[in-house]
Amino acid sequence: MTTRILTGITTTGTPHLGNYAGAIRPAILASRDPQADSFYFLADYHALIKCDDPQRIQRSRLEIAATWLACGLDTDRVTFYRQSDIPEIPELTWLLTCVAGKGLLNRAHAYKAAVDKNLESGEDPDAGVTMGLFSYPVLMAADILMFNAHKVPVGRDQIQHVEMARDIGQRFNHLFGKGKEFFTLPEAVIEESVATLPGLDGRKMSKSYDNTIPLFGSAKQLKEAIARIVTDSRAPGEPKDPDSAHLFTLYQAFATPEQTAGFRQELLDGLAWGEAKQRLFQLLDGELGEARERYHALIEKPSDLEDILLAGAAKARKIASPFLNELREAVGLRSFRSDVQASGPAKKKSGKSARFVSFREQDGTFRFRFLAADGEELLLSRPFADPKAAGAISQQLVAQGADALELRADEGDQFTLWMDGQCLADSPAYADPDARDAAMLRLRDAIAGLAEQ
Ligand code: TRP
Repeated sequence: MTTRILTGITTTGTPHLGNYAGAIRPAILASRDPQADSFYFLADYHALIKCDDPQRIQRSRLEIAATWLACGLDTDRVTFYRQSDIPEIPELTWLLTCVAGKGLLNRAHAYKAAVDKNLESGEDPDAGVTMGLFSYPVLMAADILMFNAHKVPVGRDQIQHVEMARDIGQRFNHLFGKGKEFFTLPEAVIEESVATLPGLDGRKMSKSYDNTIPLFGSAKQLKEAIARIVTDSRAPGEPKDPDSAHLFTLYQAFATPEQTAGFRQELLDGLAWGEAKQRLFQLLDGELGEARERYHALIEKPSDLEDILLAGAAKARKIASPFLNELREAVGLRSFRSDVQASGPAKKKSGKSARFVSFREQDGTFRFRFLAADGEELLLSRPFADPKAAGAISQQLVAQGADALELRADEGDQFTLWMDGQCLADSPAYADPDARDAAMLRLRDAIAGLAEQ
């Protein structure tokens, strides 16, 4: 079975070397695994939450799309698209918004940080907080759940959002699934082995520290950035300590083990920092030179990029559009035409279908009854301490299907329902074994009918 991997890239900045080593390169490598079915997209709706400068949004979308393609993303293998080209995403966002707890979203780190900052400065707690920021995790849940992703590679700061997507998806499944799991519950993947690159000053490379090395600047810009890497003051000929030099860390992130070992030895032998920077420049220029050419060619032909992304969106919508229709059905946004049929003569016998009805006993335990479409009671469950357990079992019964039901006829005129070696429910008493056997068949039919819905 293939694993569906999905991740979004917020389109607010220009990719730098740290993004390349930390996210782009590993994602492209992962997408080449034959077991992987990868979905990568430009999270441009998310970008609007953080940025109200249209020029910047547009420029960043272009640059990020060109960067991923220039770095070797193969759009025949992966589905590569802009979030804003998929109208099903905001539509699903609304369906999810209607089941997401406000309390859940109150706990989101990004929102809480904004509130804390306001409180510290004596402002209204929600000053400057948009509904976009508050609902950010719901939009992200829609991104993930729309395509039933199994794995979501993200940075640590995003783990909570993936967990919220699980919560929201589970809630929807529970409310509308009737035993069917609409959404795959996703898992965040944190790549421990991936390089977090130091920037020019040795802190993590990040736009907010202004210490980045441009990914696809000119060779001259690359050289200038490298010249600004901070080193210690050891003179040429003096031994350098590779392990305390972030210049060495940067080198290592792009070099083969042999190159790294050679460079280490040279530093220990007293290689001048100027020379060392020259070595790093050559290494990076070698790794990025060709991709840089491709990048500039793509940037110069934005309409080609547009075509590529629209083709990606069409591919994504082939999945999103029928799936969203199913979800609309599930919540009750259905065509009136199907209503006419449902109440027409064919199904007139009973508007209802078979159903589980749960209730609370005087002693605080919970049970469910299973009723056939005509209201006949077919099962009464044993008591459960937890109402959720009762619900989970009824879902499981439907999900596993009529054929898998484990029914045991006892010597008398009753039967019992078993799962995993446990007796879960009893039938009523019947007049004789034949009546009992007929009831067992009616039960299987009723479960099969539910599974079909
Ligand atoms: N919020 C993510 C980030 O800032 C970007 C993103 C949006 C995303 N939607 C996503 C990541 C869905 C993974 C899956 O990094």
